[in-house]
Amino acid sequence: MTATTTIPNSLPVEEAPLSAVTFDVYRNIHKGIRLGLFQTTLNFGSVDPGDRDAVERASDGLHDLVRMLIGHAEHEDTHVQPAIERYLPEVAVRIVDDHEAIEAQMARLELLADFATGAAPQQRRLAVHRAYLGLTTFVADYLDHIAFEETVIMPGLSQAMSVDALFEIHTAIVSSIPPNEMAAGLTLMIPSMNVDDRVEAFSGMKDAPPEVLQGVLGLAASVLTPEEFAKTNARLGIA
Ligand SMILES: [Fe+2]
Repeated sequence: MTATTTIPNSLPVEEAPLSAVTFDVYRNIHKGIRLGLFQTTLNFGSVDPGDRDAVERASDGLHDLVRMLIGHAEHEDTHVQPAIERYLPEVAVRIVDDHEAIEAQMARLELLADFATGAAPQQRRLAVHRAYLGLTTFVADYLDHIAFEETVIMPGLSQAMSVDALFEIHTAIVSSIPPNEMAAGLTLMIPSMNVDDRVEAFSGMKDAPPEVLQGVLGLAASVLTPEEFAKTNARLGIA
């Protein structure tokens, strides 16, 4: 058997028409998701296989991540997919297929994680490593999927739709998320975003009830360094 590489020598992003993107519905949540993927992978790589409780905590973290990713795909299916089917029909089927495959892989990952937790002590090191390697290849596939959304779908939708129409999609997604899910998402998103992203997102909440912005700023204070929090507040004009 001859093994040949499928890895290109160039980066897809070099050809991506990112300057066409007017409002990015993916950027902030995808930044948070990447942090969740990397943290969960790191946890499985470094957890002590001899400590069953620690392995169980790593597995719980994986289950939380999977729940979030299922919710995220549902938001995209409900609120973004109709626009993709209308304006970018040639790539619409790839998103459907990707989401199905991702869900199937996640179900398998959850089994590997549960197996690692329940493994006999002498088998747990290998079981944890298998779950870790499973996570790494899943992350590679997932990153490829969300990069496709950000480098192909988002420029395509931006060229076909008005900023207002894109913002409507964003608002529909945000309004459909219950507060506890929103808090979990923001906990990953806020530290993953840069100050420009944060100022833009928080300014966009100016029409929300004041307690919503206060809640988000309170969350930001708990997940950012004091320096990053102060910089964000200064740019927002908050003392
Ligand atoms: Fe997606």
